[in-house]
Amino acid sequence: MCGIFGFVGKRQDAGVVVIEGLKNLEYRGYDSWGVACKTEEGIVIRKDVGKISTVDSSQFTKKCSLAMAHTRWATHGGVTPENAHPHVSCDGNIVVVLNGIIENYETLREELKSKGHVFVSTTDTEVIPHLIEEEMKSEPDFAAAVRRACLRFQGRYGIVAMHADSSLLVAARTGSPLIIGVGKDGFYIASDTPAFLEHTRTVQYLDDGEMAVTDGKSILFSTIETGAEITKREIAITWSVEQAHKGEFDHFMLKEIMEQKESITRAVNQDEEQIRTLAEAINNAKGTFLVGCGTAAKACMAAEYFFSVIAQKHVNFAPASEFKLYHHFLRPESLLIVISQSGETADVLEAMHIAKSKGAKVLAIVNVEGSTIDREADYSLLINAGPERAVASTKALTGQMAVLILIAYALAGRLPEGRKLLLETAAKINDMLNPRYVDFLEGITEKIQEREHLFIIGKSWHYPMALESAIKIQEVSYVHAEGFAGGELKHGPIALIEEGTPCITLVGNDEVRADILSNTIELKARGGFIIGIAPERHEVFDEWIKVPEAGAAQPIVNIIPVQVLAYFLAVKRGKDPDMPRNLAKSVTVK
Ligand code: F6R
Repeated sequence: MCGIFGFVGKRQDAGVVVIEGLKNLEYRGYDSWGVACKTEEGIVIRKDVGKISTVDSSQFTKKCSLAMAHTRWATHGGVTPENAHPHVSCDGNIVVVLNGIIENYETLREELKSKGHVFVSTTDTEVIPHLIEEEMKSEPDFAAAVRRACLRFQGRYGIVAMHADSSLLVAARTGSPLIIGVGKDGFYIASDTPAFLEHTRTVQYLDDGEMAVTDGKSILFSTIETGAEITKREIAITWSVEQAHKGEFDHFMLKEIMEQKESITRAVNQDEEQIRTLAEAINNAKGTFLVGCGTAAKACMAAEYFFSVIAQKHVNFAPASEFKLYHHFLRPESLLIVISQSGETADVLEAMHIAKSKGAKVLAIVNVEGSTIDREADYSLLINAGPERAVASTKALTGQMAVLILIAYALAGRLPEGRKLLLETAAKINDMLNPRYVDFLEGITEKIQEREHLFIIGKSWHYPMALESAIKIQEVSYVHAEGFAGGELKHGPIALIEEGTPCITLVGNDEVRADILSNTIELKARGGFIIGIAPERHEVFDEWIKVPEAGAAQPIVNIIPVQVLAYFLAVKRGKDPDMPRNLAKSVTVK
């Protein structure tokens, strides 16, 4: 949430660089934007509400080698130009952008007001430049004053600051990601790597409680607590510039859905020895818990079924935001499996910290290499889906489920069989996702696009997929969609079905096929318009979306047509599927 991108170095077009780079982080927030450039005339600031993608960077061509920009997802204070970042001190010399929340901002603001500071916004961020200004009265060194201010903040934050009389860019982090791009021409500081992939793929990660100070020629890392210097490794990242762009597609969401032709294979191609070791860790653990948020949580929930059906192994799922309540069950022999696309989700990180505080081990399944979760976990598996830019998660989910199925087969001592099944499934998905199929799904969308309510049912591992289908449709099309376990309908939800209500049923050729079909018949009897996603036709379906037969990998196959339906529902209802209202990718606040 919130995107930050700053640059200091030899180039003279820093304003354009930070605006253009930040456009690649728009998925982190798109309420408002702002930029600060240090020019010969002093620091020039522009900010406004709206999307950074609409900003013409050619207005920032003034000679400038130190600049930073921000794209906002509002937490404190409405979406107004005054609340957009950057925020400045009373004298206008200290300029700050923030990703995160300063929890004790009210106390700090009152204290600063009593010392004469004047505030112009209703954000928590504005206390930062004022506090630095206050600190500089007794500590004139800018970077040292930033450190002293940070010592007073409570909450989770990543900040970047600059001063009109200094050539430094100062970054500090506690909880929200900041990554340094090491370029030939200077240093880039961003909330995520796509901001600077075009300029460098060599990075240094800032960890919690650390700060970085750079003048564009060199960079100094230190701890916030003591100011003691620390050394950092340079790491090469594998993602390419092309992967992070839309290419021929109108939206990232459709591009990423189509990429599942290859991304599932990449997820399956794991080191077999490592998968066996992890399966052994699960086998030896006294209690295995799986946590994630949103879509990733649905992958965790599906894992309960994969582990049960394939390996007869019991594991416990909890949404990461609820995991706090499980701490009584944790001991050093427990294992926590966390799943996250971004590797930065605050609730997941908190769950990890709870588990670690009890001495339990943490296994992470993540997409973003070098993310906080990837680095903090005891073991980490990358799903290798490539950058996911659309807010709605698609290819990350199928990659997560592929890895979980692989582990389930390894647990059952049948890893090669699982690998074969998944690779065959990936090949079938490649065939399935052809232009004619996508056109056919678009046609089905046209039949339901005017309806305001939609229901999805599934049983067994298709139950979490029914819940995931609902998330996907809700978040991009704003249609009220709800997912249910098929058997739950007659206990209440069936009262919602009216003549023509669209109902999607997720069917596999598995042990619950007869049950889910009979639940579907119950819906049809109440007037439901039945869209069956299944390998075989059934007379109850008004529309049949044919999918390949895939055994235990069926939920991976069956969710893909729903992703496409959700995409077209959004587009046909005039919504932007890549940037749904009220949302942002990478939820770094709790
Ligand atoms: C929905 C979606 C979210 C994320 C959730 C967790 O399409 O993308 O529900 O799945 O915010 O994010 P990660 O996986 O980055 O931890």
